[in-house]
Amino acid sequence: MSIKVIVSATNKGGDGKTKLSILMAEYLSSVKGLKGLGIDLDPQCNFSSRFLEMEIDSFSKHGKTSPIHPDYDPNHPDDKDWDGRSSIAGIFFGESVFPYPTHIPTFEIAPASASKLVDAEAVTKQEVAEKVHKQLKLFVNLDEVKETYDYIVIDTPPAKGPLTISAFKAATHLLIPTQMEQYSVHGIYGMLQLWKQEMYCRSQDDPIHLVGVLPNMIRNINLHKDFYDGLKQTPGIGEYILPYSLKQRAVYAEVDVESASPRTIFDYPGTHEARKESEAVCNEIYRRIFNHE
Ligand SMILES: Nc1ncnc2c1ncn2[C@@H]1O[C@H](COP(=O)(O)OP(=O)(O)OP(=O)(O)O)[C@@H](O)[C@H]1O
Ligand SMILES: [Mg+2]
Repeated sequence: MSIKVIVSATNKGGDGKTKLSILMAEYLSSVKGLKGLGIDLDPQCNFSSRFLEMEIDSFSKHGKTSPIHPDYDPNHPDDKDWDGRSSIAGIFFGESVFPYPTHIPTFEIAPASASKLVDAEAVTKQEVAEKVHKQLKLFVNLDEVKETYDYIVIDTPPAKGPLTISAFKAATHLLIPTQMEQYSVHGIYGMLQLWKQEMYCRSQDDPIHLVGVLPNMIRNINLHKDFYDGLKQTPGIGEYILPYSLKQRAVYAEVDVESASPRTIFDYPGTHEARKESEAVCNEIYRRIFNHE
């Protein structure tokens, strides 16, 4: 089975990219037992914070950085040139990446580093393709990565900038979460455009599949129903709207709290509404991605 590289992306902020990345990681690794790697490309570090205790980054005003790696040994000669922290941003600076273990035994995370990701994007237009766009694909194609993991989930920042483009270039599968509201729906068009551009660059044996658009934070109001019905009928988009959605529920925000118990939606009883709908969404995505071969 070839490795699946799943990217969660929207250029509008707050539509559920990180929520969906977390749910897919928990579902694929905790429920399905697959070996996964999370990659956090967002300087906000939200995806990383779900799995690691991130620390304040002294090089960045508001940013965070990864903690000291559990394998780091300052007394070991191999580690003498390493400060003990690793981040996916290392790929943009020629550094090795050491994923961190998480509370899920079959899921590891390559966390963000706020200042380094911001620096990575600050290259010139002439350099961006070589130094940023290409780098994530090179990383996911490393033999040790392909041999270690069944899938990778990449969380992206709310932008169509170089980091998001590098995620598209690395991706085999694309997920677009969206709210059923005006600016979010505009954002879908931006993502579809990026997807089509990327498809155009790919060869036939290396496609990027659009798995679907996930309606998120749905409430029982006319606004949401009207946008949903409108999108379903829009040629070029309607066929990508997933048949399951996530409602607006306090429990989705509550499980993000570090001390939350239960820790994930999938630890709630099987009869819990949020667990049932999350399982329906994740199972549909799982089915579409893993039966695609
Ligand atoms: N279905 C939902 N019901 C209630 N809260 C939700 C739902 N989905 C996401 N949230 C909450 O909404 C907030 C935004 O979601 P999330 O962080 O996943 O969006 P995002 O697209 O990653 O945002 P950003 O663009 O800032 O990275 C979070 O606090 C999250 O817990
Ligand atoms: Mg996010």
